[in-house]
Amino acid sequence: MGRLKLGILISGRGSNMQALIERFADPDSPAEVATVISNRPEAAGLARAEAAGLPTTVIDHRGYADRAAFDEELDLALSSAGVELVCLAGFMRLLTPEFVEKWRDRVVNIHPSLLPAFKGLDVHNRVIASGVRITGATVHIVRPEMDAGPILVQGAVPVAQDDTEDALAARVLAVEHRIYPLAVGLIAEGRVRIVGDRVEIDGAAPVDGALLNPDAL
Ligand code: GRF
Repeated sequence: MGRLKLGILISGRGSNMQALIERFADPDSPAEVATVISNRPEAAGLARAEAAGLPTTVIDHRGYADRAAFDEELDLALSSAGVELVCLAGFMRLLTPEFVEKWRDRVVNIHPSLLPAFKGLDVHNRVIASGVRITGATVHIVRPEMDAGPILVQGAVPVAQDDTEDALAARVLAVEHRIYPLAVGLIAEGRVRIVGDRVEIDGAAPVDGALLNPDAL
């Protein structure tokens, strides 16, 4: 079986993209990055992808009449690169239901909260304001509704009492960089089955123990 061909979509700095590139750089790994596509010409992630020797494409959404026209161009670029799994990595565009259905079960996303809590933008400020003690990150299969779809992997971190947005974002991002390569690796190894609204993973065991916050009495 060949390596699973990944197409990574970015809009910004591309640190999750970088984590995927590093995880699948080894020719013996189960996946390979076939292409990196940005909807913003100024995305810092483009230079990181080029530095890794990967083909990059800019599809500037401002040059398209509507979402459908943009998504058609995206579909063409992904198909012509032979992409089998689309990885959204800080890609700040909503995809049309038509695109998502065409690529059904073949688009994954990372979101910086424990979904289904805190969908959408400005996540860390809303997490802090809400008073929850634990947050995290989620990798999920993409469905037409924003930040929804079968969950592949989650990672949890504590929220500190005096947290700032930046401090919390950095703590969550470190977890994102672990769970995105893990989730894509599980798919590439053929260990993931989507059953209704849930994902089943062959040979997956839950971690032992619990994260309590605060820990001290
Ligand atoms: C990450 O927090 C990701 O969860 C969210 O957008 C951010 C992208 O960061 N979807 P980067 O571009 O991967 O560094």
